[in-house]
Amino acid sequence: MQDSCSTRHGKLPVNDLGYYGPDGRFGGAYVPDALKDNLKELAAAYYDAIADPAFMAEYRRLLRDYVGRPTSLYHAPRLSERYGARIYLKREDLNHTGAHKINNAIGLALLARRMGKKRVIAETGAGQHGVAAATVSALMGLECTVYMGATDVERQRPNVERMRMLGAEVVAVEAGGSTLQDAVDRAFAEWVERRDDTFYLIGSSVGPHPFPEIVTFFQSVISEESKAQVREQTGKPLPDCVIACVGGGSNAGGAFYHYIDEPSVRLVAVEAAGHGVATGRHAATMTVGREQVLHGSRTLVITDADGNAVEPYSISAGLDYPGVGPLMAFLAASGRMQVLAATDAEALDAAFALSRLEGIIPAMESSHALAALEKMTFSPDDVVVVNLSGRGDKDMQAFSRAAAR
Ligand SMILES: Cc1ncc(COP(=O)(O)O)c(C=O)c1O
Repeated sequence: MQDSCSTRHGKLPVNDLGYYGPDGRFGGAYVPDALKDNLKELAAAYYDAIADPAFMAEYRRLLRDYVGRPTSLYHAPRLSERYGARIYLKREDLNHTGAHKINNAIGLALLARRMGKKRVIAETGAGQHGVAAATVSALMGLECTVYMGATDVERQRPNVERMRMLGAEVVAVEAGGSTLQDAVDRAFAEWVERRDDTFYLIGSSVGPHPFPEIVTFFQSVISEESKAQVREQTGKPLPDCVIACVGGGSNAGGAFYHYIDEPSVRLVAVEAAGHGVATGRHAATMTVGREQVLHGSRTLVITDADGNAVEPYSISAGLDYPGVGPLMAFLAASGRMQVLAATDAEALDAAFALSRLEGIIPAMESSHALAALEKMTFSPDDVVVVNLSGRGDKDMQAFSRAAAR
């Protein structure tokens, strides 16, 4: 990560208006006038902050002392034997609060404080980002409200309790399918109403510019570390392959960031195939999605015949979103990144396999990335990094139900 960017966009293939790639097909900021001032204020504060060595030093200090970074890059011997490659897990599950979401939450909360905001709002699906937002709000003395689809409140109970324990207000959103998409809608509506004192601490690399760029930058610490760790541990200059699951694209964006311009590194994104792509009950956005504006960004979206975003489905609350961030859409459409989709059943199998082979219970989201190993072929010397985005404590109910079947 460049502490003061030579170009302010770092390594991201994005222009000043937030469009990704040479043809600028994806990204931008398609928002009502009422939101334009919020985004302008946010962009100015962000570029100013990341060019300030004191801001970056504080971000790095908190990642080290509070979050526990660097996270380890763990060589998984029994998983390696099973798949015939040198498999390494980037252990984002070991972060404070149990997932990668805290990397971004720390950066955004520092930005909120720098902008003089007293209150943060956040949306959450799996609850991991809600917990991260509630955590950093407590740390920095900010008031915190988290919007969560009512369906997700039910399936991610332990995280709801954690957010409340941390002093956050959790608002159950009853609209649409009452999942992540509806929580994002509600957070944007609230932000329009209360720009003066409120900061939108967004949880993934989605939404209008500059949100996707900011979130990806704060997550890029993942690949900054893994690149150095691969060099130290494997004797190879670069991994052969990096695999990450995709909801909105923040852990994948962070895990891929420092490899985007390294063409020898195969980047593999894994989305949720739910009950199977052919059933229509899935969240396989890049596999079947069409170009569309969703939450202020031109991206790939699962739509009905009339072009409206449809209700996605996945066993995993964090992957249950009908769009992806514009970086993911660009990397998929340009062919730089391969896209695979794993079903609920395949993710569950992968979760049990990792638990029993390596003694690590993965988050349901991360289990989708692990499921990709079954779908790929490797050479024995291949160094494969799987981004283990989170731990599975929050998913124990679903795992127990699956085991009982
Ligand atoms: C552990 C974990 N991994 C992955 C995701 C997916 O989000 P993203 O695509 O932004 O990384 C989530 C979202 O809640 C999550 O909690």
